Amino acid sequence: MCGIIGYCGGNPAIPRLLNGLKKLEYRGYDSAGIAFFTESGIVTVKAEGRIANTEALLRGDYENAVSVCGIGHTRWATTGRPSDFNAHPHRSGAVTIVHNGIIENYKELKAECEAAGTVFRSQTDSEVIAALADGYYRENADPVAALQKVMERLKGSYAVTALFEDRTNTVYGFRRDSPLIAAETPDGNYFASDYIAVKHLTDTYFLPEEGVVAELTARGIRYFGPQGEQRAPAPVTVTESNRDDGKGDFPHYMLKEIFDIPEAIRNTCRDHVLEGLPSFDDGLLQRLSAAGRIYIVACGTALNAGKLGKGYIERLAGIPVSCETASEFRYFPPLYGKNDCFVFISQSGETADTAASMRMINAQGLYTVALVNTPNSTIAREAADVLYTRAGVETAVASTKAYNAQGALLFLLALALGMKTGRVSAADAARKTGELTDGVPAAVRKVLTESARIRELSHRFCTAPSCFFLGRGPDFFLAEESSLKLKEISYIHCEAYAAGELKHGTIALIEKDVPVIAVISGETIRAKTINNAAEVKARSAKVLIVTDRAVPEERETADAVFTVDCPAEELFHLCAAVFFQLFAYHTALLRGCDVDKPRNLAKSVTVE
Ligand code: AGP
Ligand code: GLU
Repeated sequence: MCGIIGYCGGNPAIPRLLNGLKKLEYRGYDSAGIAFFTESGIVTVKAEGRIANTEALLRGDYENAVSVCGIGHTRWATTGRPSDFNAHPHRSGAVTIVHNGIIENYKELKAECEAAGTVFRSQTDSEVIAALADGYYRENADPVAALQKVMERLKGSYAVTALFEDRTNTVYGFRRDSPLIAAETPDGNYFASDYIAVKHLTDTYFLPEEGVVAELTARGIRYFGPQGEQRAPAPVTVTESNRDDGKGDFPHYMLKEIFDIPEAIRNTCRDHVLEGLPSFDDGLLQRLSAAGRIYIVACGTALNAGKLGKGYIERLAGIPVSCETASEFRYFPPLYGKNDCFVFISQSGETADTAASMRMINAQGLYTVALVNTPNSTIAREAADVLYTRAGVETAVASTKAYNAQGALLFLLALALGMKTGRVSAADAARKTGELTDGVPAAVRKVLTESARIRELSHRFCTAPSCFFLGRGPDFFLAEESSLKLKEISYIHCEAYAAGELKHGTIALIEKDVPVIAVISGETIRAKTINNAAEVKARSAKVLIVTDRAVPEERETADAVFTVDCPAEELFHLCAAVFFQLFAYHTALLRGCDVDKPRNLAKSVTVE
């Protein structure tokens, strides 16, 4: 989802802008470009497709261009199709900009600028930012004041860096909702969408507040508030836990991150286990345990982890929980009460729909808890309380270790809430805590040793253009996550179904050799889901059962059965998820897909 870089310092800007964009590639994009100061003015080079296409344009004409200041952008199109002319940067008059976000009122602003004589060259919403800035700059010859006025006019989300033709070697930056950091480093000074672009240069960065214009030169960075007053944001210092140590000897980030899962679970639990018992801030437990209902709000995999959390909290603590898709919640919220509580789960901490949902709840003075993997992220900063997963930097677009860490933290929280509400004894909590912190990592490591067998199963079952996942209760929640994982990196059309629901229409799609994967755990519904597996088997489906205990009926019904040993029935899903993550990984490789950077996807969806 878009990457922004800005640089000014004593070193060549062009390679630094390109390298910065490459470090942000994992965010997902469809075009790229840079703009930089030269002796003959600002030069812009941009192209649809990968960064390499922009690099190819730079070779030749700009091979030896001398520049020490510029901006760069990788675009994830929201307004105007991917193309050379819609790629950023965009220029209007004296102003050149790059933008991450969506300007919701761009049409009216564009009409106003066109009426004043501006000729637009792109179909994007972003170009209107440059046009407005140029108009105000012509009036007041003050870049900071001009950009403050631009911010007053814009509706929607934005992170912007801007160059002004006659303000040589100076980059301006400002933001609202979309992420932007600023960093002063020995190599020069930077703006970036994400700390990862400068983590090799510094342990400290700054977060420009909304409404502030940051001015970056080789000498340093200054911050100006709405009245032009100077501001000094507090520095953010990176902790070890969110350092990215690359992919080591692994061929892909995704595989490394799957093999990180035992450590991710142990590191996450370490913060919240004291003398063998779950340990959380008492105020947080007090607020959550007194809630009439807890709402878990998230997107994608984070939402699927939240659904596991629903099961844990309702069963262990007896507190009603609803899971809400953030993009729906922000516009069609349920009828919640004033003593309800809200937990926002996000690996990146920057997902626009999740952040906007939280802001809506914050504005009503209701209690919000962020459960995030990225320290100092927007969602972490703006929630009333924050719980961190300690999964480490997750680079692959498909979330894996963060999911398992989120589930583990939610299980611990459910245990603590169960103790608070008196439904879980200290002895049971201690036992269950040990099963989580020791048993689950051991069970995951056992699944990891079976990667070769999982690869064989993926090759055997993923030969069709579609795949169905079945489950009941928490098995269905894992089926949903498994379906998402497979589809987003292998591009196979996958659907997860409540096993009992398949008969009400979708079973019409079952025919010879259509792969159906049933998730089965626990005794309560085992026979029922086996029956559902038998129903599709009777229609010539190819059936794989993934289970916590392989009973004869499963072996008689399925074409293959994979058993995941787990320390307790309730912890099966945190262990079995690793089967499905490896299953998806091997399938994507078999199909020649880009495992770490799947098409159309972004690691952090910072637009709605
Ligand atoms: C998961 O593999 C996907 N990349 C996507 O669904 C992701 O989980 C979703 O965009 C939420 O991201 P977040 O956890 O950073 O908020
Ligand atoms: N909305 C802008 C566009 O479509 C920016 C998209 C982005 O954040 O990359 O160009």
